[in-house]
Amino acid sequence: MSRILRDRHTCRQFLPDAVPRPVTEELLALAQRTPSWCNTQPWHVHLTEGAATDRLRAGLLEHVRSRPAAPDLPFPAQYTGAYRERRRECGHQLYNSLGIARDDQEGRLRQLLRNFELFDAPHTAVVTTEAGLGVYGAVDCGLYINTFLLAAHSLGLAAAPQAALASYSDFLHGHFGIPDHRHVVAAVSFGYADPEHPANAFRTRREPVQNAVTWHTGDDGEAARE
Ligand SMILES: Cc1cc2nc3c(=O)[nH]c(=O)nc-3n(C[C@H](O)[C@H](O)[C@H](O)COP(=O)(O)O)c2cc1C
Repeated sequence: MSRILRDRHTCRQFLPDAVPRPVTEELLALAQRTPSWCNTQPWHVHLTEGAATDRLRAGLLEHVRSRPAAPDLPFPAQYTGAYRERRRECGHQLYNSLGIARDDQEGRLRQLLRNFELFDAPHTAVVTTEAGLGVYGAVDCGLYINTFLLAAHSLGLAAAPQAALASYSDFLHGHFGIPDHRHVVAAVSFGYADPEHPANAFRTRREPVQNAVTWHTGDDGEAARE
């Protein structure tokens, strides 16, 4: 497990090879083990393979080019301070890896649009939550997404969580017939990584543990740092 946690990373260029159905079924069975509040299991997945993935790609690209974003769940209003820095750093890592210059707005836009080509993945899983369960329903779906990512890695697959697709939740509702009482959380595209591609060549950094944890020991002199 520790190796899976350390080695997993987001894949942004997939090979065209489809994942055999029994492997995808095993992945879904493992992801289904995700814990949720009161065991409500609010996730539902719209999973594509074959021509259905190509239809989704084509539909998304056409929609994104002509329509404004319309997410079901509110996107972050702003990134400030450390969050802004971390976001910027992982963006720079990706663009540097791909040789896209800082002032190359067209190159950046092209790479952004790769999200809607699903990074050429043969499959995607669109995860929805039950609207009435509110924030904690979405939290449970976040846990589901992480289990899915780790399970995929454990099965030798690569995966990319993509909130980008949730920007166009309105399109996904129409495309998959998702009812209004369900909210799109994010998608996870998956398949086999192209190990040679520069988009897969960098690894993101994490803060040292002491910056993310405040210990409360009951001793005098306990350090508070938030
Ligand atoms: C909920 C969620 C949504 C994400 N959405 C996107 C996305 O739309 N496009 C993308 O390229 N990466 C997306 N990512 C991947 C993050 O950028 C990535 O997880 C982060 O930079 C850490 O890198 P790592 O996954 O390689 O460890 C998303 C990750 C999560 C957890």
